[in-house]
Amino acid sequence: MTASPVTTPAQPTTSIEPAAPLDRTDTSGHEQVVFCSDPKSGLRAIIALHNTALGPALGGTRFYPYETHDDALADVLRLSRGMSYKNAVAGIPHGGGKAVIIGDPNSIKSPELLRAFGRFVESLGGRYVTACDVGTYVQDMDVVAETTRFATGRSPENGGAGDSSVLTAFGVFQGMRAAAQHVWGEPTLRGRKVGIAGVGKVGRILTGHLIEDGATVVVTDVNAAAVEALRETHPEIEVVSDVAALVRGDIDVYAPCALGGALDNDTVEALTARIVCGGANNQLVVEGDGGTADRLVARGITYCPDFLVNAGGVIQVSDELLGFDFDRAKTGATAIFEHTLEVLRTADEHGTSPAAAADHIAEQRMAAGSPTIWLPTR
Ligand SMILES: NC(=O)c1ccc[n+]([C@@H]2O[C@H](COP(=O)([O-])OP(=O)(O)OC[C@H]3O[C@@H](n4cnc5c(N)ncnc54)[C@H](O)[C@@H]3O)[C@@H](O)[C@H]2O)c1
Repeated sequence: MTASPVTTPAQPTTSIEPAAPLDRTDTSGHEQVVFCSDPKSGLRAIIALHNTALGPALGGTRFYPYETHDDALADVLRLSRGMSYKNAVAGIPHGGGKAVIIGDPNSIKSPELLRAFGRFVESLGGRYVTACDVGTYVQDMDVVAETTRFATGRSPENGGAGDSSVLTAFGVFQGMRAAAQHVWGEPTLRGRKVGIAGVGKVGRILTGHLIEDGATVVVTDVNAAAVEALRETHPEIEVVSDVAALVRGDIDVYAPCALGGALDNDTVEALTARIVCGGANNQLVVEGDGGTADRLVARGITYCPDFLVNAGGVIQVSDELLGFDFDRAKTGATAIFEHTLEVLRTADEHGTSPAAAADHIAEQRMAAGSPTIWLPTR
């Protein structure tokens, strides 16, 4: 039986957009924010549920030495809101949530602390489902799962799906194929030159998909060992010294697969590529009207929103809740091709940037979801 619904005034049925937050720590746009403290293990954490109109909130746990409590709160509010949009665009039955654990994981992370965190996740009865993020790993989720049923990103030995980079890279490749279809009329990178910045877990696997598809790949990475490892598998790759050389070089597609903030003004002005499509999170340095997304449009560059094309990982962890099935999760990640085409078409039709179009699609889906908060089935 489903518990009686609770109407939330902050979640009107016509729009998910609440009044603009007063400041970066204003929680009024979020359904629920939970402050967690367990002095015995040293746990201090915040769990933020932004919106559960489409289902239980899903998003990872970031373990980070925030300088102030407000920094941690601002981060979890921003990240959980981002997850609402990512999950909605990915078409998975989940709302957006995120957790942050405050402190240096290298010094305070312990099984006791992770178990204490798991108990707080469990206390939400399934309204929040956690996963890995910066500072938390598959082995950590195995420990968190000792005290909660709502931890994904576990190891295969513990019923989990393991490393999410495989489907993240696959999803980015699908998004890139869709952009190629949109720009050049064919869903292939054959004969194109793709520049990848960052050949870690995602960039490395993406390189393999591109070479198999017939593309030429040029890469850069600050970690020489990552480049050498890639060269051993794919000796045909070209390597350049840094990101500045990569984006100024003669490339058809730019794939940021390193850290956030990849698309600053200088990069956008220097880009030779017609398409930007990569796995890195938070690529746009200036968000909103007149920001980086609009500058890309002005330069005639097709930008595939990061949260749209890098959703393969979240699609993978959401599948864990059903009892992980790689083929089913891969089918979900394959749909990123259609989702990207839809976003690029919508952007053209409405004369907006793809980033604004993706936001709009996500907001419409959330507005059409449940008018009440999601409650666990009893
Ligand atoms: N792994 C996933 O499933 C997943 C899911 C969604 C989003 N992402 C995002 O994708 C990006 C890559 O993730 P990953 O798991 O491959 O991380 P990773 O740490 O394995 O790889 C990142 C690589 O980028 C390189 N790098 C860092 N700074 C650089 C710079 N200035 N220039 C060139 N290279 C640089 C690093 O040396 C490293 O090899 C991140 O932004 C991550 O948040 C990853």
